[in-house]
This record gives sequence, C-alpha cells and structure tokens, in this order.
Amino acid sequence: MAQGGDWQRDVLRELGQPDGPARPAEPPPLLVHPAPAPADPRPGLAGAASGQHPDPPARPPGPAPDPQPQPAVRTPRDPRVPMPTPESVPTVDPRLAHALGRPQHGDSMARRTGRSVRKLTASAAQEVAEQTGVARELQQPVTTGRVIAVTSIRGGVGKSTVSALLGRTFNHYRHDPVLTLEADAALGTLPVRMGAESVRWSCADLAQILTPAMQLTDVTGYLVPVADGGWLLPASQGRVGAPMDVRTYRAVTLALRRYFAVTVVDCESLPGDVARTAMDTAHARVVVAPTTAEGVNGTRLVLDWLAQLPHSALTSTVVALTASSPDLILDAKAAAAHLRETGVTVVPLPYDRHLAGGGPIRTDMLGEATRDATVRLAAEAMQRAVRVR
Ligand SMILES: Nc1ncnc2c1ncn2[C@@H]1O[C@H](COP(=O)(O)OP(=O)(O)OP(=O)(O)O)[C@@H](O)[C@H]1O
Ligand SMILES: [Mg+2]
Repeated sequence: MAQGGDWQRDVLRELGQPDGPARPAEPPPLLVHPAPAPADPRPGLAGAASGQHPDPPARPPGPAPDPQPQPAVRTPRDPRVPMPTPESVPTVDPRLAHALGRPQHGDSMARRTGRSVRKLTASAAQEVAEQTGVARELQQPVTTGRVIAVTSIRGGVGKSTVSALLGRTFNHYRHDPVLTLEADAALGTLPVRMGAESVRWSCADLAQILTPAMQLTDVTGYLVPVADGGWLLPASQGRVGAPMDVRTYRAVTLALRRYFAVTVVDCESLPGDVARTAMDTAHARVVVAPTTAEGVNGTRLVLDWLAQLPHSALTSTVVALTASSPDLILDAKAAAAHLRETGVTVVPLPYDRHLAGGGPIRTDMLGEATRDATVRLAAEAMQRAVRVR
C-alpha cells in the first residue's frame, strides 16, 4: 500500500524517527478543525437546527498538502431522468443466515444473577443520578448536524462494531434523527452489525440523487431503517466494486448532515483518502485502538503526531481501547495510561462475548460493562462534537 507507507513515514518523520523518508518535508496531511459553518438558506434539522451546514474545514497555515489523486469526475445525472432502482440485496446469504446460531449474552448467567441481587441492595438514587447526567450529555441540542468519524490505524480492530454501538446509543437517547453511515467500501460489516437484512441504495447512488429541495421524508426513502430506530446508509451493496471516493463522501455527508442531528461515520482505516477526509471534516473523532502492544504503539504515534498539528485535533478526539479477545497479554491499564500521556481521553471497551460472536448486535445482549463503556464513549464524543462551532 504505497500511500499508507508514505503516510506512516510522514508520521515518523514528524516525530523525528530515523525511519522517516529521505524526501523533503511535507505538511501533515491529516486532521484540522472544521471551519465555522456558513449560513444555509434552507430549513434544517427538525426542531433544533438552524439550517446551516459546515463547509469543508480550513487547513492550517503552511504549504498545501499533497494533492490527493481525485477519481474521474462522475458524469452529472440528468435530474429529469429517474435513477433506476437498484435491486434489494440480502446482507447475509440466506443459506448462511439459516446457519446463524443463537447469540450469546455478553455476561455469563452467574454474573447476571449476582448483579440482580446486588441491585436490590445498591443505592438506586445514585444510579438514577448518574444515568440522568449521562443522558443529559447525550441529549445536548445541536444547531447543525454533528458528524462523528470512527477510524483506526489498521483494519479488523472494531471500527464497525464501535460505530454500530455509537449509532444505536445516540438513537436510543436522542429524539432527533440519527444516521449511521458506512464510508468503508471494502465489503464492510456495518449493515450486518446494525441488523439490516438487506440493502438497496448506497452512498454512491445518493451522491447522484440528493438535491437541496428534498425533505427528510424523501431522503429516508433511500436509507435503511434500523430495527430500534435511526437510519443506515451503506457504502455499497455488499459486492466487490469500485471503492468509495472522496468526492462521493463529501457530497453525501454535506447533503445529509442538514437532516440528521448526529451522523456516525464508520470509516476505512487510516491513511485511506476517505478516512483522512472524514477525520478532516468531522466535528469529533473516535480512534479505535486494539489492546495489543503493536496496536497501542501505533495509535500512540498517531496521537503524538496529531498533537503536533498547528491546531491540535486531539481535543476533539476520543480513543476507544478495545479488547477483542479474552486472551490479551497487554495490561489494559498500562495501555490506557500510555495513550493518556498525550492528553487524549481513553475509554476502554471490554471484551464482550456477544460482540465477539459477530452477526447483528443486540443491545439487550451486551454485557453491563460494555453498555456502560459505550454510553460513556458516546457521551465523550458528543461533548466534543457540540463544542466545535
Ligand atoms: N469489544 C469487543 N469484544 C469482543 N469482540 C470484539 C469487540 N470489538 C470487536 N470485536 C470482534 O472484532 C471483529 C472485527 O470487528 P469490526 O468488524 O468492527 O472491525 P473493523 O475495524 O470494522 O474491521 P474492518 O477494518 O474489516 O472494517 C468483530 O467481528 C468481533 O468479532
Ligand atoms: Mg469495518
């Protein structure tokens, strides 16, 4: 992956590591604060929105970053010609769906029984107060749609799982529309994790269909309704096809953020172009780090590098430190402390049997510690997302 190599060498060079490339210094290509949003004449989010949506953010001072290779310009669609409706495609082959076993609960039966007994004796008042505080953070009103981008330094570490958990948490707590958007065309797992049985329209389709005249009800006709509320937009129809491009990502997120109070974006791994753009333009970022020596080490390099940018993006970043195996050998507390040295907030997401099993995530089957960590992660991300004007 040539670009990936360049990006990681850039990070190392920024950090003064010997493995940095010999070529001349270039500006850091990743992450800047979004610029203030220009006024948008159209009505916006139901209830709270002022109808504004932000432009792409201003880049920090200094020379322009590497020009990104842009995909071929899409031929504009004639708006008078209706787009053919794509067929509905199952997210899991029906023959495999039949083979899906019963999902396991995140907590063992013994643990759940012990907890019920403890609950009878614990202070209910304190628990209610804590829950109310978190709910208030998650329900903060927004004037314009907030975008929270989820990414990681490598694949398979739990980005889609964290995105699905966040999307469902926001949807549970908020009364305004919430969208979970897949910006990872590499046959991502988000639709399955969100419980979608089939998908039809993709980001690339919507990039051609969306017009400023559309109402929320028009737009949701192209989205997948999630069983317990909220909406999903997949990156593809689950087939090997063209990867998503930056132009499509920008067009879709800019158009959709006026309808949704919160959009959670499940990005490809860094340093992919779409992931970098998503991180650039998001109001808050969640970096998923696996609890392994190599995962924490790599994530720390990225955080150190973020901190050196002219306008540090760290203040709007949260790390989700995930344990995707019960057999980890790295001490989770030491791992979190290592990452916190950068000043970033770290929320550990424990190993959960229900999440490990794959398939649709059922929030009622999550372990208690997983539920608590998810709500905290969502609150931390939301706090940062509303701070940016
Ligand atoms: N907290 C957790 N507890 C147990 N298993 C987990 C947890 N988080 C993730 N996993 C496991 O890790 C697998 C990969 O997760 P996921 O698909 O979310 O990763 P990803 O980063 O989106 O991958 P990709 O880069 O391929 O898109 C899941 O199928 C699940 O089995
Ligand atoms: Mg994924």
